[in-house]
Amino acid sequence: MTRVSIIVGAKGRGSNMLALARHIAQDPDIEIAYVIAPKPDSPALLAAQEAGLPTAVVPYGETFAEDLERVLDDTDWICLAGFMRLLPGNIVHRWKGRILNIHPALLPKFGGKGMYGHHVHEAVLAAGETESGCSVHFVTEEYDEGATFMQARCPVLPDDTAESLATRVLALEHATYYKALKAAIDGQRT
Ligand code: GRF
Repeated sequence: MTRVSIIVGAKGRGSNMLALARHIAQDPDIEIAYVIAPKPDSPALLAAQEAGLPTAVVPYGETFAEDLERVLDDTDWICLAGFMRLLPGNIVHRWKGRILNIHPALLPKFGGKGMYGHHVHEAVLAAGETESGCSVHFVTEEYDEGATFMQARCPVLPDDTAESLATRVLALEHATYYKALKAAIDGQRT
């Protein structure tokens, strides 16, 4: 059984976390170890509790890195879902090649510090792109720098706003993240 923990941010809705959890519930080979959030009132954490998932709160602070490693001790793979910070080095090293993140654009374009939420979709529109999508990539100690593992594409329509594009990309994210996780886990086994 592969144990996966999902780390969410303080403010995220948790829709990717819930989509992952729904797929994992149907998968006999994967289980969720923890959904981890920095605050007890993180919307994504409350959504996880409502869905009956195991949760843990690890507050940002001086001992964040050690506390997070302790909670993750029996976790095999880590998925970031709306976690906006850099992971501490001890986590990145110990789970090297087993940490994924999803980004709402086609990396390497439109990634990096400050490229999150509506900023990403506004930048895609401003650049006149005709295509966008999502990228599942490995996590390193830099923002959005790890190797891209899987992408899914959708059109950018002439009358798109950042909101309409975000909605289209989000639906793609929900369908893609589990697929990528599953393929990454299977790839490592072979
Ligand atoms: C998603 O757009 C994801 O690509 C990005 O953060 C957002 C999280 O949304 N990393 P949600 O909390 O999963 O709904």
